[in-house]
Amino acid sequence: MNDRELLRIAQEASKNAYAPYSGFAVGAALECADGRVFTGCNVENAAYGDTICAERCAVLKAVSEGKREFRRIAIWAEGKNYAMPCGSCRQVLSEFSPEMEVLSAKAGGSYVSYPLSRLMPYAFSF
Ligand code: THU
Repeated sequence: MNDRELLRIAQEASKNAYAPYSGFAVGAALECADGRVFTGCNVENAAYGDTICAERCAVLKAVSEGKREFRRIAIWAEGKNYAMPCGSCRQVLSEFSPEMEVLSAKAGGSYVSYPLSRLMPYAFSF
């Protein structure tokens, strides 16, 4: 699957976003080492801090289905800036696959791609 196809799946996943507070829908498509793709969307909560980002939603779905090795994650949001994963999502992704690739799109569909190791150097571990 090419980058554009993975981003398209993330875009589709963003339609399920539950974002009544921010109004900002995010979708993610996480590609596992075996090629399987898990989607995620942001799920907000009236207690704002309990909101789950699209990226972590996808990771939790994958890990709970037995997957722990990831190749790429595509993130889609209709923002003016690229929707880069927040610090918590970078840490969670890094736990499983620090060398994976992160693709991020913005309104209009242009996208950037970075190795997670560049976005999250010195992730916490013990
Ligand atoms: N959000 C994500 O889903 N992923 C990110 O990487 C950053 C932010 C969500 C959380 C919240 O529902 C909305 O975007 C605005 O912060």
